[in-house]
Amino acid sequence: MISIDKEHSVSHNLSTLQQLKSNLDTDFVWGVSTSAYQTEGAYNVDGKGPSIWDTFTHEQKSKIRGKQNADVACDFYNLYEDDLILMKSLGINHFRFSLSWSRIIPEGTGTINQKGIAFYDKLIDSCLKHGITPWVTLYHWDIPQALENKGGWTNREVVGWFTEYTAVCVKYFGDRVKHWMVMNEPMVFVGAGYFLGLHAPGRRGMKNFLPAIHHTVLSMCEGARVIKARYPDSEVGTTFSCSHIEPYRQLEKDYIAAHKVDALLNRMFIEPVLGMGYPVDVLKPLRDIQQYILPGDEHRMRFDFDFIGVQNYTRELVKHSWFTPYLRARLITAPNRNVPYTLMNWEIYPESIYQMIKKFDKYPGIKKIIITENGAAFEDRHHDTIISDHLRTTFLKDHIRQVLRAKAEGAKVEGYFVWTWTDNFEWAEGYHPRFGLIYTDFKTLRRIVKESGQWYGEFINS
Ligand code: GCO
Repeated sequence: MISIDKEHSVSHNLSTLQQLKSNLDTDFVWGVSTSAYQTEGAYNVDGKGPSIWDTFTHEQKSKIRGKQNADVACDFYNLYEDDLILMKSLGINHFRFSLSWSRIIPEGTGTINQKGIAFYDKLIDSCLKHGITPWVTLYHWDIPQALENKGGWTNREVVGWFTEYTAVCVKYFGDRVKHWMVMNEPMVFVGAGYFLGLHAPGRRGMKNFLPAIHHTVLSMCEGARVIKARYPDSEVGTTFSCSHIEPYRQLEKDYIAAHKVDALLNRMFIEPVLGMGYPVDVLKPLRDIQQYILPGDEHRMRFDFDFIGVQNYTRELVKHSWFTPYLRARLITAPNRNVPYTLMNWEIYPESIYQMIKKFDKYPGIKKIIITENGAAFEDRHHDTIISDHLRTTFLKDHIRQVLRAKAEGAKVEGYFVWTWTDNFEWAEGYHPRFGLIYTDFKTLRRIVKESGQWYGEFINS
């Protein structure tokens, strides 16, 4: 990896960062993000049913680096109170986490697991007790296996199952949870899980991809309506992954390829929700999605979200390629471009987050943007109990500066959450890439605040 040592420029930039921050309204939200499967563990405890990620990590082991799984993960299920105390001690007052559908309704539909409800009751109450605002994601990729056995996201019945699950969550937690995100990054779980087969449930091809896209869009909007109907004053959002896209070369064919990748990665889920339909103009093979769109869906696939969660990590450079079916485009990864990159092989390119905020800000109909994820995995250095991770601190400073730059130019961005709180299970990459502000010793489950965590706490409270 190319080392980036920006220590020299950091002190100069810091004042700019502080200046930008001092112009913010006091209600700008600073927080941290996690998800259930990546942190909770307790995968088969207290009545929890298996999710697709339990099955995938147990049965398709070779698809996970080191054949690892999140059976225990950070054991957040048992250690949540300690985590919240630590969070509070750093002055972090907003916490985004997700609910595990199969902990709440083990079969996905039908019987409710009261022990699952009790866990989230305790977690939410504990957040409130510590003065931490819970930001709850309903779906962070872990559909119950029982529903996957019936087709999962490819089965239109999922819309009913998902609204039932949402109604249960709202009934039990809606009195205390005021900030909801319906879905986490639909493009990633549908793309990697139902087209490429790299993530759970490991399915491939257009016949899975297209129905999964449409049923996810419908579920996202129906779920949002369920929350709003019961609690009109709650803030309901949903989150999207996105990357600034550029052509690899100044060639027309690379521009066309970049345009297609932009439609696939950045436009696919936000545009239907805004009433603009799927980006079939650019992505012709997507036209077959029409067969899954039933009369009346045009209205059901729209929702006026209170906020959009933007999740950005990098930018992508795109080259024309005859060898890629459908897209005729491929990404040129950072290690092949002589640029700095993270342990995920993602280019470090802070301006991407600025570009994405500007892009989303331009859509008519987006009321508010929250950066619900941004962060990086690096090789952290240990000196006894000190975990020195200045690359992460620099990454966060540089990205926050770009967020505040967009804000200073008038963009409607009103919050920023670091991915992630504790080092956790990074899906197909297992435990190798550590994204945390807090180091997790996966043998003892001990947590150690990294220098970046210390910095973030001081920065947001300065
Ligand atoms: C996602 C997910 C997180 C990831 C993070 C780093 O964005 O993919 O929301 O679960 O862990 O993004 O890859």
